[in-house]
Parts: sequence; structure tokens; C-alpha cells
Amino acid sequence: MLIIAATTKCNLRCVMCPHAMGRVHVYQDIAQICMDRLEAPLKLAERVDITGVGEPLLSKTFWSFIKTHKKQPGQYIRLNSNGLLLTEENAPIIANSAASEISISFDASQTTTYKKIRGGNFERAKQGVKALVEARNRVPDSKLDIYINMTLMKENVSELEGLVRIGKELGVDRVVAYQLFSFGDSPVWVVERGDWTFKYSEQMLKHYPEYAAESIRAAVKTSKEIGMRLDLLCKTKEYIENQANCSA
Ligand SMILES: C[S@@+](CC[C@H](N)C(=O)[O-])C[C@H]1O[C@@H](n2cnc3c(N)ncnc32)[C@H](O)[C@@H]1O
Repeated sequence: MLIIAATTKCNLRCVMCPHAMGRVHVYQDIAQICMDRLEAPLKLAERVDITGVGEPLLSKTFWSFIKTHKKQPGQYIRLNSNGLLLTEENAPIIANSAASEISISFDASQTTTYKKIRGGNFERAKQGVKALVEARNRVPDSKLDIYINMTLMKENVSELEGLVRIGKELGVDRVVAYQLFSFGDSPVWVVERGDWTFKYSEQMLKHYPEYAAESIRAAVKTSKEIGMRLDLLCKTKEYIENQANCSA
């Protein structure tokens, strides 16, 4: 398995990300020479994850990889993006590439919450995903799995149900929920965003198990009603299965 950080540059400063805390000190794409040297391992890898603390779509090296890499038999390639740079022009490049899966982070179903957590243009992100779904649907027999994700926290967990509805509208394959990693669970992680103060520790779902359970249950119910797959990962399922034992 190869995990490749395509870039540390990002066009967002999401409150729960090390970028928002000024903990990313180097802004650069992975050098083309590094990708060139990975040519042999890239042919052998069963799984390739293009992720990290940056936005891959900002990286020239990423685009060069996605345009040229030929998928190897049995190889699974996963991408992660905020979707803001997806357009009708570049979405077909990803749709026709060797990528197996692309996860697009929304973290909200309301524009105001998206602005608070991610600080970007929610409409633009939704348009980007729509362009990608349309491009994928034009590729015969495409197996590209497109999904939108939410990192659950106090501020957005009640919007998971709305995200399921957005997933249906956009035609993605599934909606995926994770929760905050414990690495930021410290009183010093505080981010001011307009008149909202994000305090990492206070946002962790483990402090609100009943509220989390109620919100996640509502999302599960809606997903069944409207036929939109919802995957509860990173122990988020525990809130509705076993409220007594839910930690990140
Ligand atoms: C750091 S981002 C980079 C990729 C891309 N720019 C994006 O927005 O998805 C990768 C994923 O990590 C998630 N993430 C960021 N900070 C996190 C945290 N403290 N705990 C859990 N997930 C986090 C993001 O929401 C996103 O889904």
C-alpha cells in the first residue's frame, strides 16, 4: 500500500485540520522526481491512497499522475478532495482515470455550517461533485465510486440527515461519516471563525452520545427511506449500537 501526500497546499482552512492551527509549515507539492521514482512501486501496489493534509487538485504532480497512470490489475486507487476545484472541464479526466474511489469532504448540509467549518463556497463544492458524477455517468461501465463525507462533531452531527438527502440529489454512490480524530483533543486547539469559536475538545461526539445517537439514527432512517447508502465508519456506528462505549 502506498500513501502519497500529493501536496501540503490547501485552499481551505477547516477548523479541525492542522492547517487551521498553523501546524503545517511547508507548502509544496510532491516533486515530480519523487513520483518518477515511485514508478516501480506504483506498478506493484495493491492500494494507492492520494491524501494528506492538502488539496490534491491543487497539485500539478497529482494531475500529471492521474492523467498518465495506467491502472494495474487488481489495483485500488483512492482519492480525497474538497471538490472545490472540480469543473466540467477537469471532471472527465478523473472519471476516465485509473481512480477507483473519490471521497469528497462536505462536513455540513447547510451553507452556514459549511462556511463555519470549512470556510469555503458550499455551492461550488456541490457543483464540483455534480460535474464529477455527470462525467462518471458518461463513462461506459465506470466503476468509480464517488461519495461525500462528513467528519462528525457537535456542530454538524444533526446535519448528517441533510447530507444524506444532498447525496441523493447529487447522485453520489454513498455518504460516509467519520468522527474527529483524538489528536486534536486538547484545550489549546481553539480556532476563531467570525463570531464562532471552535474548541476541538468540546466538539468531540463522546461528550454528547445521546445527541449523536439521535442525529445518526435520523440519518440512517432517511437513508433507508430515500435509498441512499450511508456508511458509518470510525466507530460512529457505536453511538446507535452501544451508547455506553463510544470513543473516538
Ligand atoms: C485533511 S483533508 C485533505 C483532503 C481534502 N483537502 C479534503 O478536504 O478532503 C482529508 C480528510 O481529513 C478530514 N479531517 C481533517 N481534520 C480532521 C480531524 N481533526 N479529525 C478527523 N478528520 C479530519 C477532512 O475532513 C477530510 O475528509
